[in-house]
Amino acid sequence: MTRKESTVPRRLRFEIFRYNPEDAESVPHMQTFELDEAPYMSLFIALNQIRETQDPSLQFDFACRSAICGSCGMLVNGRPALGCRTLTSDLPELIRLHPLPVFKLIGDLSVDTGTWFREMVENTEAWIHNQQAFDPEAQEGRMDDDLAHAIYEGDRCIECGCCVASCGAANVNADFAGPAGLNRVARFMMDPRDTRGDGDWFEVVSNSDGVFGCIGMMACHDVCPKELPLLEIYAYLRRKALAARFAG
Ligand code: SF4
Ligand code: FES
Repeated sequence: MTRKESTVPRRLRFEIFRYNPEDAESVPHMQTFELDEAPYMSLFIALNQIRETQDPSLQFDFACRSAICGSCGMLVNGRPALGCRTLTSDLPELIRLHPLPVFKLIGDLSVDTGTWFREMVENTEAWIHNQQAFDPEAQEGRMDDDLAHAIYEGDRCIECGCCVASCGAANVNADFAGPAGLNRVARFMMDPRDTRGDGDWFEVVSNSDGVFGCIGMMACHDVCPKELPLLEIYAYLRRKALAARFAG
């Protein structure tokens, strides 16, 4: 719930995780900064002000500032969220920021989500598999509107990693495809241009690193900033996996 705007500006206290793994002298610790809150201040604005006016060495990632690039995921008072779309007015005066777990730490609040997502794509072979020879004269294939919409839903993932960071299974099993990975698998499973059969998909997702590795806490569904229908996606994958099992 949004905190009611007060006419008295708040003095915000930020406790921010600091650690540079590249520096042998660096020790993980929390550092405190204070800042006057401004109207409509996002964490993006607040962190930039802290870096500009108090500590130029503070590391964090932002690019688009509008929930598109997926680079600004962080733990905000323990909950994964995008810094660019989190308003300080929705938070208490004490704001604790940590880097997302699961991903390799670059420094402070900055993590390497790219390597994790690349490995996930390679492990799940999340691309169109089709042996058809390319025909430059061929007409564009047609697709049912509802199916195109379902595929588009999966493609809305911005690879921010918030779901992965919130996932109990991904936190303990480095090989687990994670919510974003399972969403990616479902997106290609639905796509009629991908000619893999149920048996092929069974090999990809029907194990403890796939959809049966999910322990059902569903935090991913709660934190996804794009509100992807992750619960429906897992149900779809489980139904497909069971159908393939009993067909084979
Ligand atoms: Fe981020 Fe949602 Fe994609 Fe997970 S599924 S990476 S939370 S956009
Ligand atoms: Fe791009 Fe936040 S800066 S999603």
